[in-house]
Amino acid sequence: MAKQEDLQHIDALLEELRVIEPPDEFRRNAIVNDPEIYARAEDDPEAFWAEQAGKLRWSRPWDTVMEWKPPWVKWFLGGRLNVSVNCLDVHVEAHPDRVAYYWEGEPGDRRTITYRELYEEVCRFANALKGMGVAKGDRVAMYLGMVPELPVAMLACARIGATHSVVFGGFAAEALRDRINDAEAKVVVTGDGAWRRGSIVALKENADAAVEQCPSIEHVVVVRRTGQEVAWSSGRDVWYHDAVDGQEATCPAEEMDAEDPLYILYTSGTTGKPKGILHTTGGYLTGVATTHRLVFDIHPETDVYWCAADVGWVTGHSYIVYGPLANGTTSIMYEGAPDFPDKERWWSIVERYKATILYTAPTAIRTFMKWGHEYPARHDLSSLRLLGSVGEPINPEAWMWYFEYVGGGRCPVVDTWWQTETGAIMITPLPGITRLKPGSATRPFPGIAADVFDEEGWPVGAGKGGYLVLRRPWPSQFRTIYGDPDRYVQNYFSRFGADVYLAGDGARRDEDGYFWLLGRIDDVMNVAGHRLSTYEIESALVDHPAVAESAVVSRPDPVVGEAIVAFVTLKSEIHGDEALIVELREHVATKIGKIARPHSIVLTDDLPKTRSGKIMRRLLRDVAHGRDLGDVTTLANAEVVTTIRSLSAERKDDE
Ligand code: PRX
Repeated sequence: MAKQEDLQHIDALLEELRVIEPPDEFRRNAIVNDPEIYARAEDDPEAFWAEQAGKLRWSRPWDTVMEWKPPWVKWFLGGRLNVSVNCLDVHVEAHPDRVAYYWEGEPGDRRTITYRELYEEVCRFANALKGMGVAKGDRVAMYLGMVPELPVAMLACARIGATHSVVFGGFAAEALRDRINDAEAKVVVTGDGAWRRGSIVALKENADAAVEQCPSIEHVVVVRRTGQEVAWSSGRDVWYHDAVDGQEATCPAEEMDAEDPLYILYTSGTTGKPKGILHTTGGYLTGVATTHRLVFDIHPETDVYWCAADVGWVTGHSYIVYGPLANGTTSIMYEGAPDFPDKERWWSIVERYKATILYTAPTAIRTFMKWGHEYPARHDLSSLRLLGSVGEPINPEAWMWYFEYVGGGRCPVVDTWWQTETGAIMITPLPGITRLKPGSATRPFPGIAADVFDEEGWPVGAGKGGYLVLRRPWPSQFRTIYGDPDRYVQNYFSRFGADVYLAGDGARRDEDGYFWLLGRIDDVMNVAGHRLSTYEIESALVDHPAVAESAVVSRPDPVVGEAIVAFVTLKSEIHGDEALIVELREHVATKIGKIARPHSIVLTDDLPKTRSGKIMRRLLRDVAHGRDLGDVTTLANAEVVTTIRSLSAERKDDE
């Protein structure tokens, strides 16, 4: 097989050659078809964002657009609004019977939920939460699969001014426990289970195990989905259907300050402890509504939009829930796996609902590519007019495959770069005007000041790589790390000063000013579009009684992007064998979740360290990548590298 570097080199050559113009018909009907939007936003970014914010419903107008005391920022000061009013009431007044969600369960059951129905359900659950003693400013955790009750619960919190913290349903009990405790949530909304590839994920069981060690939790609300018997703690547990039963279908919306919290969402950083990214109300909604409308060219009367992410991640928050609903969009929401009951599931969904826009991650596209284009070919995908990609760098081959075999060569592909922290899309084409280059996220969204810096903080020249930074605040920016403001400053605003946001990604710009994302440059990995920290996995491994020390790195993988490789030394009395390796992988799955299970574990007698005792991850990364090791003389224990290299070669052969 060709080395990854060679492939990247070939990719790079292909990238430069192909340019895809927006199709004429698309351009004619696009919401944005005049490139002057960039100049206008650049001339006066605050005026640009104020104009966008003005499209929302405010109960009190703002006094000041933006106040920036680097690194702290506030938007729309003095303004008051409620997010759920903008996502529901506004549309119930204008088009109550428009579908908000076409929901499809994995077993094949379906629900169609109109804006009126969604509004009423949200109000009922908001009243139920109030009845449980949840008040403005309280935190409510959610641990659910992709069921409509998840957006309902989020919006119900927004309605009464509670702050939600959604924890991805694939996380394990301990991960849930830590997140609940960090936010001191009062209530957790979970389910009996979630469907995944025909089996049940035991949500309630995990939630019970977590809540045992969560003193702040007063109630556990349980959505019945999979129907099996579950343990019950009377007084604490309440069925969702009982909680909403008999509640009023209206609920006054709490008037929120633009800067009041909307939600916390935990994401992996460069230490073992996940960061609670805090988003607020006015700026966040402005950012997601604007980017959703303009990047996906939303025509709410006619579009059927499908963001195939999970609501448990930021993509789902911004582009399944808040952005689409603020814009009155009709969305598809699908519960399960793409290959259940067969590999055509997604394409039959596109065909059934006549989806016009599809937004997904490169890892999914590469999986479909591996399965073969005969699956999409068996379905009528002619309703599609626009495709989107998010979560990882998309390689030009995957881009072209998506464009050809899903988009039929007629749909622009918007490769959107952003993060949990940015809240909304930051670098992206605008599909009616941008000339696309497969593999490039193209240009910063209007008003966004993205740049690439060298080590000293100077912008790099064309063709050079460096640190991706954002040089000016934007409305949907996270405001802090929940309970840890020092980490906010330290992590993001210290490398190049308090007025420059460090994204943690590498990037290069080409001669046309287009951005090419190069992946993370810190200890964060991107595995199948899931963000994981090397330290988090290392801590989980070291927690196992047999493990003395561990170092986790990633190696490139053609499907999941990055695969997890763990180097582990055992305690002296322990004998390592295959059974232990299996046990260690499962141990990580139990501590964090299956998404964090290492793809390979290399047992070794020692780890390469500097003379001061720091593990040399760079070297291990080189080993995992199969690269030449270069100069290792600064190692305290240079010989260990040779041993590790031969061990890791053996492991790869085993797979
Ligand atoms: O490395 C970048 C990658 O995903 C990271 C953010 O992960 P998360 O906060 O989980 O949010 C994912 C969904 C927005 C970034 O630091 N990333 C995201 N989008 C792209 C990307 N890398 C390259 N190209 C993208 N389009």
